[in-house]
Amino acid sequence: MKLLKLPVLCAVLLVFISDIKFSKCDDFPSLITQNASIAIIIDREYLDVQYEDVLKEIKVIIERVLREDLKNGGLVVFYYAWTKINLRKDFTAVFSITNCENTWEIYRDSRGENLLLMAITDPDCPRLPYDEGLMIPIMTPGEELPQLILDTKARHSFDWKSAVLLYDNTFDRDMISRCVIALSRNFPDDSNQVQPLSVSVYKIRETSLDWNRRKHIRNILTSLPSRFIGTNYMVLVTTELMQTIMEIARDLKMVNTFSQWFYVVSDTNYKSGNMSTVLSLLEEGNNIAFIYNYTSDNGECVSGIKCHSNEILRAFTLGLSQAIREELAVYGQISDEEWEIIRPSKVERRGSILNFILEHLRKTSSCSNCTMWKIETADIWGSRYQASTFTSQSVAEKKLQIDSNVDYALINAGMWRPFEGLLMNDVLFPHISHGFRKKVFHIITYHNPPWQYIKTNGTDIVSEAHGVVIDILNEISKKLNFTFVLHTTSTSTDLNTTDETTNLTMTKEIRLLTTDLPTEVASMLNENKILLAAVASTVNDRYKNFLNFSIPISIQPYSFIVAKPKELSRIYLFTAPYTHGTWLCLALMIVILPPILCLVNRISPYYEFHNQCTKKGLFKFSNCFWYIYGALLQQGGLYLPQADSGRLIIGTWWLIVIVLVTTYCGNLVAFLTFPRVDVQVKTVGELVRQSAMSWGMRSGTYFEDYIRDSNDIPKYETLYKGAKFHSDENPEIIDLVRQGKHVYIDWKSNLLYIMRREYLKTETCDFALSSDEFMEEQIAIILPYNSPYLELFNVELTRLHQMGLIQRWIKEYLPKKDRCSKQSNLIEVVNHVVTIDDMQGSFLVLLLGFMAGLLIFCTECTWRYYRKRREEKIIQPFVE
Ligand SMILES: *[C@@H]1O[C@H](CO)[C@@H](O)[C@H](O)[C@H]1NC(C)=O
Ligand SMILES: *[C@@H]1O[C@H](CO)[C@@H](O)[C@H](O)[C@H]1NC(C)=O
Ligand SMILES: *[C@@H]1O[C@H](CO)[C@@H](O)[C@H](O)[C@H]1NC(C)=O
Ligand SMILES: *[C@@H]1O[C@H](CO)[C@@H](O)[C@H](O)[C@H]1NC(C)=O
Ligand SMILES: *[C@@H]1O[C@H](CO)[C@@H](O)[C@H](O)[C@H]1NC(C)=O
Ligand SMILES: *[C@@H]1O[C@H](CO)[C@@H](O)[C@H](O)[C@H]1NC(C)=O
Ligand SMILES: *[C@@H]1O[C@H](CO)[C@@H](O)[C@H](O)[C@H]1NC(C)=O
Ligand SMILES: *[C@@H]1O[C@H](CO)[C@@H](O)[C@H](O)[C@H]1NC(C)=O
Ligand SMILES: *[C@@H]1O[C@H](CO)[C@@H](O)[C@H](O)[C@H]1NC(C)=O
Repeated sequence: MKLLKLPVLCAVLLVFISDIKFSKCDDFPSLITQNASIAIIIDREYLDVQYEDVLKEIKVIIERVLREDLKNGGLVVFYYAWTKINLRKDFTAVFSITNCENTWEIYRDSRGENLLLMAITDPDCPRLPYDEGLMIPIMTPGEELPQLILDTKARHSFDWKSAVLLYDNTFDRDMISRCVIALSRNFPDDSNQVQPLSVSVYKIRETSLDWNRRKHIRNILTSLPSRFIGTNYMVLVTTELMQTIMEIARDLKMVNTFSQWFYVVSDTNYKSGNMSTVLSLLEEGNNIAFIYNYTSDNGECVSGIKCHSNEILRAFTLGLSQAIREELAVYGQISDEEWEIIRPSKVERRGSILNFILEHLRKTSSCSNCTMWKIETADIWGSRYQASTFTSQSVAEKKLQIDSNVDYALINAGMWRPFEGLLMNDVLFPHISHGFRKKVFHIITYHNPPWQYIKTNGTDIVSEAHGVVIDILNEISKKLNFTFVLHTTSTSTDLNTTDETTNLTMTKEIRLLTTDLPTEVASMLNENKILLAAVASTVNDRYKNFLNFSIPISIQPYSFIVAKPKELSRIYLFTAPYTHGTWLCLALMIVILPPILCLVNRISPYYEFHNQCTKKGLFKFSNCFWYIYGALLQQGGLYLPQADSGRLIIGTWWLIVIVLVTTYCGNLVAFLTFPRVDVQVKTVGELVRQSAMSWGMRSGTYFEDYIRDSNDIPKYETLYKGAKFHSDENPEIIDLVRQGKHVYIDWKSNLLYIMRREYLKTETCDFALSSDEFMEEQIAIILPYNSPYLELFNVELTRLHQMGLIQRWIKEYLPKKDRCSKQSNLIEVVNHVVTIDDMQGSFLVLLLGFMAGLLIFCTECTWRYYRKRREEKIIQPFVE
């Protein structure tokens, strides 16, 4: 059964697949079964008096090309004198001579049928989509500028929303207004998505004196409100003025990584056209492109409708002929069914004919072939830092060999010709579209967790790297399209130490890996040899004069650790509800009250009056005492006074007892439930006020500088004066902290590391962090002084911040949460179980009571013994 099913399934599948293939080809006649046809539309209205002439000429041309060039098959030609025709489906191509508007009308009509449209039309006409048709605007030589701009825009060479147009007086107002219209007009075809630009136009006046002109240009450039009009400049000038403007713009720092300068130079030609003179004016971080006149003025320069018609129709016929030939060649070898499957679709046929025409025209075109413009763009970004000659392997002779005078190269980005418009081999602004263009940079770094974890094996070439900074660099390099090779450096610095010792130029092994910068890194940045240092560094005034910092990648607050507050012993818990004063008062009451009660009872005339016994009960002092004591413990007594005076005293005592006992019970429960802990030092204020613990921090940190100089904040002043400065955190210090004798101040993240490390060592949580986070230190990446890429990197870093990536990476490299981190700040309130420890105190009292009882028992015994002895002595004489 199963074996049978499989072939059936395959057959079904096969039919299905072939079905798909059949449905792909649309039902248009192939060039073999039916002759191709072309509609020739010659707009009588548009040509006016020229019409008859042109028509006759075209008929002659058609006749000739059919005779001479169409070797296989045939071509059916239909002539129309107006444009509102119904384009039949079986046309192969349309050739039209009409104005721009009607051309686009025809295009829209023919688009659905995938016809090949070849059009001759007005100047300043937006090109038809490059892969669907050919358009030749007939223009007088020297007036091609607006068309040029239109074509540049249609090709999405620049993605601008606004443009600043600067021009000099080589162009008249008419030409400029045509250029402005070209920039700001809407395209008839919305599928192309060419957005109109907002254009601000500025004219540079001609002045005879060079000095005057410079001043004028400077004034214009400085007064541009670039915040509102954008930083995309299109400059239509002569070569000479271009150089002046480039110079001034560079000096005004208007050429940066975000601005785009597009120079349109018209006074050159194919001989003098050479932009190499501007190379010296280029600088790192620029975006500059040129399009310049490459028109040749020797030789004959024909143009006009007839010339172009002739060329196009001829090229078309040749193209068609070739297409037929190709189809025939294939057709001859295969069966009809197969042919139906593989024959080219209409779109494919249109594409191949169009390509043939363009190819043919490029090679042989002689109409308007003088007019040509060349586009060059500068590949600048990162050229300076691109060290292709880095060979050194040894740490000792590690010097990045970089030429100080860099040769920037101009890229031949493309050219413009009337029949095909813009032909680009590269993008107009390579760095805007492709960032650093996959350049390879050598970047220096060193091991400094958690920012940089670097592993090397022998050489200075890094074999493995990760860490916050490296992660950031990886992400940015992807975005900005560069790759990098990491090199490590030894971490020593010869920075002048800030304290006033005589030994100023001391080379020390670097310890404070973010506060100090290794000499090598500093010098490389200073000499502008590397794009950036993959190094997290404290934003520090000391370096600001010869380096530039990016925006902070992280903000590190300072904090301190103290010994974790101990839980107090609970042996005397039962005494806790009352303060010592209260206990004392209570004892006093018990001492004072019985005599008073006794006295009142004895003095009271009540008993005498009623003639009652006044020897027993509360008349005895000891009974009074025991009664008061018993009442306090809410025990009744045998006797009660009968006189109202005595009763009143006892009544009020009972009241007090209720209050005392209730308060005691309530508090006792509370104290049993909540553990009692030591007071913890939580803020800097508390730290400087206490005197039991000393405090210390690493020396040379930014924080030290800060508190030394902050004379106006008293607590920092005290903090600085009382602080001990350690060269580094070490086990002795940590032990002191653990014993509660010392407080250690550092970055919070470092403290977290220490706490984690100690926890892993001892498995107990001995430390607590301060709740105070003070003095935030900014950590940033370093770039060379006045690096043009600072803003660029800042933008990328901001983006990473906004996406929360940096935050995440930092968190990843921080110690993981453990048992201690939960309790680091506050002792958590947990339901406390009362243990025997908590009761010890009461048992102690019981023991004391027993012992006291025993003591008194012994006293009583001895007392009795002596009494007996004395009685015996007295009685003796009577004994015989
Ligand atoms: C194509 O045109 C040629 C010459 O014009 C003619 O001989 C031929 O019959 C035509 N073929 C078809 C299929 O119409
Ligand atoms: C381009 O150069 C040619 C020859 O130098 C000149 O005739 C023509 O006017 C120039 N084009 C423009 C737009 O200036
Ligand atoms: C450009 O002109 C300079 C001299 O002005 C010349 O040395 C260089 O070869 C020229 N470059 C080209 C591509 O013509
Ligand atoms: C233009 O075409 C003519 C005639 O084919 C030729 O002589 C001339 O060299 C061409 N000019 C250019 C710049 O190619
Ligand atoms: C990076 O640069 C290369 C070389 O220019 C380019 O081909 C590529 O498209 C660029 N990649 C990105 C993502 O821009
Ligand atoms: C260093 O590590 C890299 C990559 O792991 C390896 O290719 C290279 O051979 C190693 N070099 C030495 C000297 O071990
Ligand atoms: C350090 O101080 C010495 C002498 O004062 C000075 O010559 C040197 O340039 C200083 N070095 C730095 C890096 O500031
Ligand atoms: C400065 O200190 C270094 C090492 O710390 C020592 O070798 C050098 O002799 C000292 N220089 C002076 C002038 O004291
Ligand atoms: C680089 O640092 C210097 C000195 O602090 C500063 O004047 C300059 O503005 C910084 N550069 C940039 C691009 O911010």
